[in-house]
Amino acid sequence: MKLTRADSLVDAEADLLLLPLAEGASLPAAARPLDRALGGALGEILSGDFKGRFAEVEATRTLGRVRARRVALLGLGKPEHLDSTRLRNAFQVGMKSIVGPARVVAVAWTGVPARGITARHVASAVVGAAVRFGWTEATHKSGSRPNPGLKTLSLVGFPGVEKLDLDRATILGEATNLARDLVNRPASELTPEAFAAEAGALARRHGLDYQALGEADLKRLRYGAILAVASGSARPPRLVVLRHRARRAGGVRLALVGKGITFDTGGISIKPSVDMQYMRGDMGGAAAVLGAMTAIARLKLDVDVTGILCCAENMASGTAMRPGDVVTSGAGKTIEVVNTDAEGRMMLADGVHHAVKTGATHVVDIATLTGAQRIALGPVAAMILGSDAGFTSRVVEAAAAAGERVWEMPIFAEYETQLESTIADLNNSPGRDAGAITAGLFVREFAGGLPWVHIDIAAPSWNRVASVREVPRGPSGFGVGTLASLAALMASSPPEVEPAPKSDKTGRK
Ligand code: BES
Ligand code: MN
Ligand code: ZN
Repeated sequence: MKLTRADSLVDAEADLLLLPLAEGASLPAAARPLDRALGGALGEILSGDFKGRFAEVEATRTLGRVRARRVALLGLGKPEHLDSTRLRNAFQVGMKSIVGPARVVAVAWTGVPARGITARHVASAVVGAAVRFGWTEATHKSGSRPNPGLKTLSLVGFPGVEKLDLDRATILGEATNLARDLVNRPASELTPEAFAAEAGALARRHGLDYQALGEADLKRLRYGAILAVASGSARPPRLVVLRHRARRAGGVRLALVGKGITFDTGGISIKPSVDMQYMRGDMGGAAAVLGAMTAIARLKLDVDVTGILCCAENMASGTAMRPGDVVTSGAGKTIEVVNTDAEGRMMLADGVHHAVKTGATHVVDIATLTGAQRIALGPVAAMILGSDAGFTSRVVEAAAAAGERVWEMPIFAEYETQLESTIADLNNSPGRDAGAITAGLFVREFAGGLPWVHIDIAAPSWNRVASVREVPRGPSGFGVGTLASLAALMASSPPEVEPAPKSDKTGRK
């Protein structure tokens, strides 16, 4: 997609020119010459049915009176509801209904749509939406041509917006689409091994260090939790480690750890068959980490970031782990497997431990971890927990900047008792009460006391619910924006780190 800038609405060259308007807004002065050229058509739309509701669109043909062939008003909804997320979603959902065969789309700056929303916010939202709009989920349909996306996006007006803002939004959008593709891929294609190979190819393309630990490595490292989860599958696990290096060594080392279950049957504690097909997306956390790593590399952020993808398949078979088994994690803590469907936290246990062991100073884990997250917040927001208020607030800030919604849950001491087991250090299934929180607290046990944030994206990673019209349906790539923006924040204002005497104890040959 080519990005261009223009000044005049009347002269903007486009198949379709979009004018975004919040509910109750009137035509801005800058659009009056355009309206006059169109014989007052826009004024008529505004005084008719068009109310500016979320993603509402009404178009008029221009019959050669201006350069654009069609002009449409696009509703942004109530100004008091507008934030970066809703803004981008309004454009994305609106584009889907109006763009049609248009390849060259222009969007006009129509003034501040709501308090606190600048031209930069709107421009980033438009670019993000346009890039996402070009993604297609129907990659396996015969005869259907893939969505070619936009050829050119032209921004008309938009004072103070720099090329850098647009490039950032493009890179984040493309990395997000990469994650959406991975989440959507059938588990028969995207096995742990294939996922690792995909990561390897991307690492080469973007100049990231790459290491894929296979079964033998995991055995040597005694990563018993990952090995137990993988033991039911014919497809061996992979622990993929990607690294983006800061220009100078020392200081912050951010680790991003993603759950990469390429398919989750539940194992012996097997899931019901309804909706099980969505469990091909149970690697959404690892996909978000991989997407973010490509963006971090492309943006050349001056911060050290390690991405860890914990890949395995959770199957039921004669070699699968059983409820009642006890496994020893890489950190040495023993885990009673009460429910084999609580496999994600076991993957993260060894993945987060690997991050700590190899010198991380700050750890974020991200996972499609619990049905309880979905019950609590739905696809609208991810649930987060954190062990360090300062670090958590950076993640919140990063999410807001990226147009992704997160909501922090409390860590009350009482929840910790749910992690106890009669025969081991921990149990992996602490019951339904506060299920999303206790899943996160299980992972915290492996973070070695470092500043740690947990992001549960079970529902936001894939919006199955057509009824939440404001959230585009299908795989979302949720997390890519938050993680890459977090890295950007850590680069631009690095937190103090205590000099850690820790050496690199990877056990590398
Ligand atoms: N992958 C699932 C969680 C999930 C559910 C993701 C819905 C996306 C949509 C996870 O592995 C799981 O099965 N969690 C269990 C844990 C329970 C057994 C403690 C759950 O939430 O029911
Ligand atoms: Mn599961
Ligand atoms: Zn799972």
